[in-house]
Amino acid sequence: MDRNRSRHGQWFYFVLGSLLLVQLLSGCDYARMKDDEAIQTYADSMPAMPGQSVPVEGGTEQLQQTDPKTLENPLAPTPETVQLGAEKYGYYCQQCHGPTGKGNGTVGQSFAPLPTSLQSPYVQQQSDGEIFYRTSFGYKRHPPMAYTVAALDRWAIVIFIRSLHPPDRG
Ligand code: HEC
Repeated sequence: MDRNRSRHGQWFYFVLGSLLLVQLLSGCDYARMKDDEAIQTYADSMPAMPGQSVPVEGGTEQLQQTDPKTLENPLAPTPETVQLGAEKYGYYCQQCHGPTGKGNGTVGQSFAPLPTSLQSPYVQQQSDGEIFYRTSFGYKRHPPMAYTVAALDRWAIVIFIRSLHPPDRG
């Protein structure tokens, strides 16, 4: 009687142990994120572009390949574009270059060298394209801003910078 009970007990533990082992070895049955439909979608290759495809408008990378001296401002200097440039300058440049472009913005004071004066002949003698290009893609210690500020806004800012030039300076 006692022997029988202990044999039952052994079987019970044997079966329980085997089940646990199987469970452990097979691991959990959760799907992995990498196999998820949402991620697998991106494993598909991009649809092929028709041959001879060309971009309709030049992207930023194409702009970067262009000689800055050949870039022309698509905006004309008018009170509206100066106003637009002033507004965008206030968002993106003023903190370093200061309200009138003298290079005395609060954030700019921790830069070495200090932000260049945008009223200076050094900047004003550059073409619109050069100012645009240097601001867009960075120059010396200047951060590239092509991916922060829209292209037309950058051109409008150049027009605003021109408007800062005091007429008494050659
Ligand atoms: C984070 C601070 C900062 C911001 C924001 C900033 N600048 Fe500058 N800028 C500088 C510094 C610093 C220099 C001097 C860099 C050097 O000479 O190494 C400079 C230099 C320049 C120059 C002179 C480049 C040359 O020919 O040597 C121009 C032009 C200019 N900035 C335009 C802009 C315009 C336009 C914006 C806004 C779209 C802008 N910057 C935003 C810090 C800034």
